[in-house]
Amino acid sequence: MSCTIIVGGFFGDEGKGKVVAHIAHKDEPVIISRGGVGPNAGHTVMVGDQTYGVRMVPSGFVYKKAKLCIGSGVLVDPRVLEHEVEMLGVRGRVFVDKRCGIITEDHIARDKSSTHLSKKIGSTGSGCGPANSDRVMRISPQAKDVPELAEYLLDVPLAINDALKKNKTVLLEGTQGFGISLYYGTYPFVTSKDTSASQIAADNGVGPTKIDDVIVVFKAYPTRVGEGPFSTEMTTAKSDAMGIQEFGTVTHRQRRVGGWDGDMARYSAMINGCTQAAITGIDNIDKACFGITDYNKLTKKALAFLKQAEEDIGSPITLISTGPEMSQIIDIRDEQ
Ligand code: IMP
Ligand code: MG
Repeated sequence: MSCTIIVGGFFGDEGKGKVVAHIAHKDEPVIISRGGVGPNAGHTVMVGDQTYGVRMVPSGFVYKKAKLCIGSGVLVDPRVLEHEVEMLGVRGRVFVDKRCGIITEDHIARDKSSTHLSKKIGSTGSGCGPANSDRVMRISPQAKDVPELAEYLLDVPLAINDALKKNKTVLLEGTQGFGISLYYGTYPFVTSKDTSASQIAADNGVGPTKIDDVIVVFKAYPTRVGEGPFSTEMTTAKSDAMGIQEFGTVTHRQRRVGGWDGDMARYSAMINGCTQAAITGIDNIDKACFGITDYNKLTKKALAFLKQAEEDIGSPITLISTGPEMSQIIDIRDEQ
């Protein structure tokens, strides 16, 4: 009976996909709709021994009863979408807003051949920057102009607002992270759009008064892919020694790893209007926490970390992810 936004609090790849998948199973939304930039984002969802990487389909797809929507603000690459719909077997459940901007082969070629984007900024090469640029210039095609997308078209904001009027539950999933927001991130080393909760609401045509909760997902040890400042970054030797080694879902580049950044967490929580926070990778703070699902089994070391993080964020931490698999999570939202 609510509308919740889930966004990334650091530089992306905080584990939003897994958090969304868990919340979807627990809260049973009728619609899960995606905001954010476009197929530059990669969400990983692991269910049992199956791992899925998605770039266009909302990561809540593992919850089978929800409609899966892509909001008007998002860029759609019809080839990526078609591939995922086939691969995941979700045809009939996926809807694209008729006004979504379209990524063409030309956008991808421009993203990859631009030294500024591909080398200096370290873009994902998925065409998002050039596509958003054309959209601002008002020369970009929209989803309704692409015949292959006809079967997916929907007025997504209307569907969401109708569901909310009927007191149903809706999840709005963000992509990327706060630190690469075009407005609030480490400009120019950012993506081509704002990534904060307000943007995710706007992307889906949901007014600010309709949002009940904003869950900001923070990683115990944040990571960053691509170029740009990262104040708490550690050497690869150190993160390797700690057993933290991650690779991007879209580009397969090794992610840079850093320590907890309390100042960034505070600022990010403020701009996102965080009401509750999720922490992922607590098993990197203390390996003994791997896979546990009971709050009372968290170690002293983990609890001390969570206390500090909660103070920094200024909102309760109600979700604690203890491993990559969907069920490896502690959910104390009800106890708030
Ligand atoms: P672009 O969005 O492809 O133009 O890339 C701009 C910057 O944002 C690069 O540093 C990318 O690595 C980063 N970026 C874009 N999307 C994501 C994401 O979903 N997760 C993490 N980094 C991202
Ligand atoms: Mg990602």
